[in-house]
Amino acid sequence: MSKTVDTAVVGATGAVGEAMIEILEERNFPVGKLYLLASERSEGKRLQFRGQHVKVERLDQFDFNKAKLGLFSAGGPISEIYAPKAGKAGCIVVDNTSHFRMEKEIPLIVPEVNPHRLGDFRKHNIIANPNCSTIQMVVALKPIHDAVGITRINVATYQAVSGAGGGGVRELAGQTTAILNTKPVESKVMPVQIAFNAIPQIADFLDNGYTKEEMKMVLETRKILEDDDIQVNPTCVRIPVFFGHSEAVHFETKKPISVADTRQLLEKAPGVVMMEGNSYPTPALNAAGTDPVFVGRLRKDLSHPNGLSMWVVSDNVRKGAALNSVQVAELLLSEGHFG
Ligand code: A2P
Repeated sequence: MSKTVDTAVVGATGAVGEAMIEILEERNFPVGKLYLLASERSEGKRLQFRGQHVKVERLDQFDFNKAKLGLFSAGGPISEIYAPKAGKAGCIVVDNTSHFRMEKEIPLIVPEVNPHRLGDFRKHNIIANPNCSTIQMVVALKPIHDAVGITRINVATYQAVSGAGGGGVRELAGQTTAILNTKPVESKVMPVQIAFNAIPQIADFLDNGYTKEEMKMVLETRKILEDDDIQVNPTCVRIPVFFGHSEAVHFETKKPISVADTRQLLEKAPGVVMMEGNSYPTPALNAAGTDPVFVGRLRKDLSHPNGLSMWVVSDNVRKGAALNSVQVAELLLSEGHFG
């Protein structure tokens, strides 16, 4: 019999957890027993996997000796407690929260970009999955960085509400309905009204005037590309889109490179779909429900001799989270880490 991997999905009832279950099935990952874990609120709920109903169990009562792989997406405080427990029990954790990302001994992996760092997980049995906005940006920038070196990135994001989990999706839907029915609007997940609006704040502000989400893009990009000299200047904005993050990425390179050569690099880049001519991707029509990182509007930056600009779009719940985690699991499998 071919080898199977007993797998636990932590946060199985959440937006990313549900996508993880779907993607494990879609990509035929050789799941043996599947354990779906969430809070006591969801105990006994049933979710579908390969045509079967699987009961949701309580995370706080689960014995991680039973699983070889743990896909975590239940928030930083949950990972802080349970990921080390799982790791010690011999379960390899792919953690989708920001909790461990910047820890030296924990690899931060995007399979198309830095698969060679995967083996660093052995010390803690934990691999961190990067921030959704960072993932799609580094997938698109990696081949250019390898070819000519990137010195500076100026990026503005246009991020979907699903980045804030199921609660974000429900808030946009609820507020849109309320406004169209001239009812009052309540904001619980977002700092202010998101329906028919744009919010230049994702997560809390830090002392330097940037938000936590923005600083994730700065620090994680350097860690993944293994280059502490790259300067990153982000503005992260939430917009009323359900699925798919978009980014206007402006970057400068060490050596000059033409638009045609950059286009060629992106056409060959793993995980990238380069759009033709002036056509461009949009989150709802290209990214939502799909796997690639789409790139369009590639052009020379008029204001800088070594500058280029492009528009990068991807499904934040899939490539930005669940798909990347499953790809990491596939890499673990192909390298024989499940014993
Ligand atoms: P639950 O549905 O039982 O609350 P999202 O990111 O879409 O908001 O989803 C968060 C996920 O994390 C859900 O599956 C949620 O489960 C889970 N979760 C939240 N708090 C806990 C907890 N204390 N223990 C286990 N799972 C939790």
